[in-house]
Amino acid sequence: MLNEREIESCYLGQFIPVHYHHNMLMDHNRMHSFKSAIYHAVKPGAKVLELGGGTGVLSFFAAQQADKVYCVEFNPDMVQEARRFLAMNENGHKVEVIHADAFEYLPPEPVDIVICEMIHVGMLREKQVEVIESFKRRYLARFGGPLPIFLPEAVIMAVQPLQLEYDFEGFQAPIIQFQQTNVVYPGTIELAQPGVYSILDFNQPVDSLIAWEGRFLVEKGGRMNALRFITKNVLTIIEERGTTIDWLNHYMMLPLARPFDVQAGDIVQVSFAYRAGGSIPSLEASIRTEVVARYEEQENEQVREQVGESVFA
Ligand SMILES: C[S@@+](CC[C@H](N)C(=O)[O-])C[C@H]1O[C@@H](n2cnc3c(N)ncnc32)[C@H](O)[C@@H]1O
Repeated sequence: MLNEREIESCYLGQFIPVHYHHNMLMDHNRMHSFKSAIYHAVKPGAKVLELGGGTGVLSFFAAQQADKVYCVEFNPDMVQEARRFLAMNENGHKVEVIHADAFEYLPPEPVDIVICEMIHVGMLREKQVEVIESFKRRYLARFGGPLPIFLPEAVIMAVQPLQLEYDFEGFQAPIIQFQQTNVVYPGTIELAQPGVYSILDFNQPVDSLIAWEGRFLVEKGGRMNALRFITKNVLTIIEERGTTIDWLNHYMMLPLARPFDVQAGDIVQVSFAYRAGGSIPSLEASIRTEVVARYEEQENEQVREQVGESVFA
């Protein structure tokens, strides 16, 4: 019998089934970004903790330089799989796979880096924020400071108004969709530039409530029937080069309950609120959208001033 927390874990996607881990291993964008970031961040001799190890792949990357990697995984099937895979891979013996809940586990000694990839678009569903906040409190209580470096170090989230195609061979179905970030989808029209709605820095205390209200200047007329959610993970910062190694999650598009027509120059207001780790329906239920100003040539300058910083590079 599963206990209540395990049932919630299954429902919210914490227990990612074994077959889905193949998709994650095949996601070149994700894998390559993490590999580069881990190779950069983990210095020779380092002690590393991974929370949510899955197949053990990120712990394997870390083990190439680290002296010791503690790899914590909650799903018993994945614990077995990670041990099996690591035994086949170079330096796998440096990784200790521990069957434990990341909300409770602390390593037996201080660590230099904590790797955690419990990341869904918008920081929804998976428990990255709560796991890291809980870890920080417990780690400080046991070992004192300083805290280890977190990988990812920060997350930048943005939202963008869209017109999306919801016609499937004549069948209308406004349904949640995911898109790869490097593919052009013909039925997708970007009506305005994305606007950043939240930046989470794991080196600071992170509030799990994400609430936002912002305005967009419509650049292209159309039917606004969806919002695209964009999540960029700053995996590591390369200070000497003044740059970062990032991983952009797949885009998530949520249909609007009440689509409406917009024209170039309109100002659209969007608001929503949800908790990190919360469900997608909880975000959907909170979304409000409205046109707050219609475009008129003479007011254009004023209209531009009303729109905040909305560029998401
Ligand atoms: C998105 S997967 C990432 C797996 C692996 N790190 C990778 O990059 O391929 C997240 C993993 O975290 C595990 N997980 C979720 N909640 C956990 C918890 N509370 N404690 C330990 N592991 C957890 C899941 O079972 C899953 O294997």
